[in-house]
Amino acid sequence: MTVRVGVIGTGTMGTAHIRTLAEQINGATIVAVSDAEQERAQAATAAIGQGGIRIHREPEELIASSDVDAILIASPDHTHETLVLACLDAGKPVLCEKPLAATVEGCHRVVEHEARIGRRLVQVGFMRRFDPSYVDMKRVLDSGEIGRPLLAHCVHRNATALAWFTSAMPILNSAVHELDIVRWLLSTDIAGVSVFTPRSSGRAAAGMSDPRLLVVETTCGVTVDIEVFVNAQYGYDVRCELVAEAGTISLPPPATTVRRAAGIEGIPIADDFRTRFADAYREQLQAWIRAAATGGADGASAWDGYAASLAAQECLRAAEEHRMITVSTPDKPRIYRTAREEACVTTRSVPQI
Ligand SMILES: NC(=O)c1ccc[n+]([C@@H]2O[C@H](COP(=O)([O-])OP(=O)(O)OC[C@H]3O[C@@H](n4cnc5c(N)ncnc54)[C@H](O)[C@@H]3O)[C@@H](O)[C@H]2O)c1
Repeated sequence: MTVRVGVIGTGTMGTAHIRTLAEQINGATIVAVSDAEQERAQAATAAIGQGGIRIHREPEELIASSDVDAILIASPDHTHETLVLACLDAGKPVLCEKPLAATVEGCHRVVEHEARIGRRLVQVGFMRRFDPSYVDMKRVLDSGEIGRPLLAHCVHRNATALAWFTSAMPILNSAVHELDIVRWLLSTDIAGVSVFTPRSSGRAAAGMSDPRLLVVETTCGVTVDIEVFVNAQYGYDVRCELVAEAGTISLPPPATTVRRAAGIEGIPIADDFRTRFADAYREQLQAWIRAAATGGADGASAWDGYAASLAAQECLRAAEEHRMITVSTPDKPRIYRTAREEACVTTRSVPQI
């Protein structure tokens, strides 16, 4: 079956996804796009040289179209909740860029709605779960070869902050990736967060605290430090090292060659996420299309989107209040539980929604 995809939002990410879908993904065809600015939608479709793609002014119209089987949302954060809810009402699989919604309450409304419908249709764009190196880190950790994890060190650096970043964005929009990957790699929830704020870089916008250091404690007893620095100037640099009882495992340098030139030996650094995580975005899209073909979803669920945004919001509170904040993640609704989790919950008789 060929999945007929509609894409909402044709800016940086939407355009990149459209190109990947058109050029590298099996089993999908783009039939419609929507953007608040028509010229952007036209430019994004023209770039792939595929005729016959419809442009909708209203994203809701695209969602309701009978020839659209699945929807990819890459419009700004504040639009996600309404659009994902509309996809759920239409009963269509949706891949929504992170964060799932602009607020934790919005994320929770999506979770409640999907739980009421009773089947997973929402996938959140935490693409790192599909990055080959992160996947291998998880495989080694889960195999038990290096024992139980004890610590993790993560770094998230961007060259410069995006123009629309407010002071909360380095945490709500960037660190949310780290919070999700920690939950996924360690198969755990986040139990507490502290945030340390050194003096700010002179390159950061007025009023923005950048960089920041998050210290995260997980429910399984691992401590994780996360540096978030969105004006690091030199490039896009993501690092992760897990320290376990019998060894460590870390992301390799994101390059396959070492360059010696101009008196320096080194490896190139990506300028942004699209280059650094090209494999991850492609694998994420392929997994989504495979799942959408049977009406489902893969990867990070709406619940994962909610849990990461909840932890991110608590990081903001920790920064404001200069103290460790306990993160109380509620019990998952049934549709998000694994068989093992379900067995534990039913013995504790938690309300089933
Ligand atoms: N997964 C990742 O690594 C990653 C990286 C960057 C951005 N993102 C996320 O992707 C989303 C888009 O980010 P971006 O950098 O591409 O932004 P962008 O500003 O480049 O593009 C957003 C596009 O959405 C359009 N738009 C605005 N309101 C709309 C509406 N109501 N309906 C339809 N279109 C609308 C804009 O005109 C613009 O073309 C954000 O949620 C962001 O957090 C994810």
